[in-house]
Amino acid sequence: MDKILIHGGHPLSGSIKVSGSKNSSLPILAATLLTREPCVVHGVPDLSDTHYMLQILIHLGAQVERASGTVSVSADNIGSVAPYDVVRKMRASICVLGPLLGRCKEATVSLPGGCVIGDRPIDLHLKGFEGLGAAVRVEGGNVKVFAPKLTGAVINLRGKFGPTVLGTDNMMMAAVLADGVTVIEGAAQEPEVVDLANFLNKMGAKIEGAGTRRIIIEGVAALHGTEHDVIPDRIEAGTFLVAGAICGQGITVKRIEPEHVRSITDALASCGFPVNIADHAISISPNGEAKALELTTDPYPGFPSDMQAQMCALLSTTDGISVVTENIFPQRYMHVAELKRMGAQMQLEGATAVIQGVDRLFGAPVMASDLRASAALVLAGLKADGITEVSRVYHIDRGYERLDEKLSELGAHIERVKAA
Ligand code: EPU
Repeated sequence: MDKILIHGGHPLSGSIKVSGSKNSSLPILAATLLTREPCVVHGVPDLSDTHYMLQILIHLGAQVERASGTVSVSADNIGSVAPYDVVRKMRASICVLGPLLGRCKEATVSLPGGCVIGDRPIDLHLKGFEGLGAAVRVEGGNVKVFAPKLTGAVINLRGKFGPTVLGTDNMMMAAVLADGVTVIEGAAQEPEVVDLANFLNKMGAKIEGAGTRRIIIEGVAALHGTEHDVIPDRIEAGTFLVAGAICGQGITVKRIEPEHVRSITDALASCGFPVNIADHAISISPNGEAKALELTTDPYPGFPSDMQAQMCALLSTTDGISVVTENIFPQRYMHVAELKRMGAQMQLEGATAVIQGVDRLFGAPVMASDLRASAALVLAGLKADGITEVSRVYHIDRGYERLDEKLSELGAHIERVKAA
């Protein structure tokens, strides 16, 4: 397995460009299953997760071509069964359920396995499908949904931890070809949901209200092919902004949608980092006296759970006591034990991390456990004295396109050691 070695303490400067959004690309690629006609999607990042999604589409019978960031999918004749072997590597595989149900009126998809960031149920997805008139059965590790016809309905998708992103995506994709009008109450408002709705509307769907808590979908008889550019990855952008805060001499993150990262730039500004926001670029400058912060993760437009680990890395080196509460995935703290091995002082109290900022972190061998926790370890390694060796780098490759190369372009001393 590849490792990443970071020689810490080398300041970053210059600019980098953000890749297309992983969490937009995945449901948008799944949505290409909704039409027999070809679709072309630009800006799809080269990640193992997007690769897995294309493997699923190919398994289902789609013709797929990929040339750098552009993916063409032609799903003329497709099946409706995605077995464990093809879906097990990625939880987001679940978002083929909606389009398969919409188009084929049936789907069998193996249930995604456990996940280190916590229990990840799909009860709200299934409740939504039932609301459209589908029968749902979970047996033999598979979820099977089928309906002679789907009928629009009012569906509330708000759960104990707030709205569901992929649940909202799944529901939109099933409802676009249903008879009548579907109203999703308690919908997720994330920019990736809006991007998917825009893609579906370009295919001929009639969706209004994406980006608000209520989405209204008027079913249509068929969708057609289209072409689309996915939005920039706001979590990659945020990760680089934190890199600039933790170890920068002034860096600029380009190809960014400032509104999408507002909660992140607000948090960084509250810590005392000068943040300069232009049209599609944000610069961050160092501050030798950064302050502690109280931070809670919340559904968009709140501070994203996907940036919590990276902020913990930053706050471990800012003066004072920071308090971080994770409201989306209360157990998403796998990075804490590893950061402590690098000298961070943090205590977990339920879903809250209490962080006492330290002056220095120390390089150490650490283990990546999930995508965002791994990014946090890399960020801590940029700041730490000595060498940090991050193993299980495949977690990073799931969601960051060329992270090591981009950091290197900014001046980080970082190298990937290929597995023998
Ligand atoms: N939930 C339920 N029932 C459901 C679905 C979700 O109780 O049926 C709960 C979850 O357990 C969680 C909360 O609702 O407590 C929100 O989960 P959500 O469904 O929104 O998560 P998701 O759609 O499975 C997406 C992103 C995640 C991101 C979350 C939250 C993709 C492919 N994944 O997951 O991204 O953390 O939304 O914003 O879009 C990542 O990129 O590293 C990542 C994990």
